[in-house]
Amino acid sequence: MGGDEGSRIPGFHTLSPADRLDAVGRRSGLGNAGKAHLLEAGAPLTELADHLAENVIGTMNVPLGVATNLIVDGEEVLVPMATEESSVVAAVCNAAKQCRETGGIFASWTGPRMIAQIQLLGVADPHHARVKLLERRDEIAALCDSCDPMLVKLGGGFRDLEVRLLETRVGPMVVLHLIVDTRDAMGANAVNTMAEKLAPHLEGWVGGSVKLRILSNLADQRLVRARAVWRTETIGGPDVRDGMIAASAFAEADPYRAATHNKGIMNGISAVVLATGNDTRAIEAGAHAYASRSGRYTALSRWEETTDGDLAGTLELPMAVGVVGGATKVHPTAQANLKIMGIDGAERLAKVIAAVGLTQNFAAVKALATTGIQAGHMRLHARNLAITVGAEGEEIDRVAAALIERGEIRQDVAESVLSEIR
Ligand code: MEV
Repeated sequence: MGGDEGSRIPGFHTLSPADRLDAVGRRSGLGNAGKAHLLEAGAPLTELADHLAENVIGTMNVPLGVATNLIVDGEEVLVPMATEESSVVAAVCNAAKQCRETGGIFASWTGPRMIAQIQLLGVADPHHARVKLLERRDEIAALCDSCDPMLVKLGGGFRDLEVRLLETRVGPMVVLHLIVDTRDAMGANAVNTMAEKLAPHLEGWVGGSVKLRILSNLADQRLVRARAVWRTETIGGPDVRDGMIAASAFAEADPYRAATHNKGIMNGISAVVLATGNDTRAIEAGAHAYASRSGRYTALSRWEETTDGDLAGTLELPMAVGVVGGATKVHPTAQANLKIMGIDGAERLAKVIAAVGLTQNFAAVKALATTGIQAGHMRLHARNLAITVGAEGEEIDRVAAALIERGEIRQDVAESVLSEIR
C-alpha cells in the first residue's frame, strides 16, 4: 500500500463515504479515475455486465466497505469488502486492531497449483491403465504446456500427474488429475483447456471413453494459512480466551456448529473475493469440501492457548484466486479494489483474504463467547428497519435510536416512530 500512514485510520467510520474514499485514495494512490468510478459505480457498468453475463438488464450494487487496521506479514493493508451483511466490516477492523501489538496476521501459501480432472469410463484393466498413463508423464506435460505457452513463459504450467481409481455405482473409473501451476490466474480456463486437449489421447492410450474434463474446486494443492496471536489482557482476560477456545472445540466436534463457524469465516473471505472480481462460489465450494476432508465436516480454524497464556488463532483453506483474467481484470471496481490493497499478485491476495477470514472468525467467536452478537446486530438492524419504512437522511438515525431506546426493534414500531417524527 502506498503512503506512510498504514491501515490505521482513526475515526474512519465517523467520516462521510466521500471523505472515507478520499482517505483511502490518499493512502493507496488510487487515482481520480478510480475514485470517480467507485463513486458512480452502478449504471455505467451495465455495458460491461452485458459482456460478463447473459440476458443482462442492469447491475446490482452491494455496499463496498474498507476494513482498516490490518497488518499482514508486517505490511499494513486496507481491504475492500463487498457485502450486504452488517457488522462484517466492523468486525474485521476490531479484531485486526486487537492483534496489531503482536505484529498482526502472518500468512503462507503452498503456491498456485490447480487440479483438473479427466474421467475415463469403461477401461477394462484400470490398474494396467493407471501405470501406462503414469509412464506418459512427460508426453502429457508437453501436451498440457503446449496449450498455454504464455503461462509457461511466466513460470507456470504442468507440474504433476496423478491417476486415481474409483469404485462407483456405475462401475470402476480411472480419474486423471493434472496439477498445473497457474501463477497469478485463478486458472479455470487454463486447466480446463488442458484437460480437453489431453482427453482424446487418453482413449487411444488405454481404451475406455472420456467423459468429464473439468477443474476441481477442492483446490487442496493451493492452500493458504493464516495465524495470529491476541494477548489475553487485550481481549478481556482469561475467561474470554477460554470461552473462545471452548467455542472452537465445539465447532471442531460438531458439524452443526462448524457450518455456522465456517460461515462466519466466509463472511469475510467471500466479501474480499467478490470485491476483487474472483469466483465466490469456487472459494466457498473449496472451503467446505476442505472442511470435510477427514470424512467429517469440521471447523476451518483452530483457537488455542499459547505457552504465554495468550490466544492463538490459525486458519487453513484452499484459496484459488487470481489477479489476471476474468472479471478481476476487466471489472473497474475489482481493479480499484486491488489498487486500494496495493496487490499485484495472487499470493499476496490469497494471504490477505486468509487474514480477513481469521480476523472475522475471531470477532464472531469472541462476541458469541461473551456478550452475544444480537446487541450489535440489532443496532444495525434498527437502521435497516428505519430505511425500510421510508426514513430518509437524519430521520434514519432518529428512528433507529428510538427503536433501540424502546427496546422494540420491529417494523411496526419503526412505522409509528417515523410518523411521530414527521
Ligand atoms: C453470522 O453471519 C456469522 C456468525 O453466525 C458466525 C459464527 O456463529 O461464528 C456470527
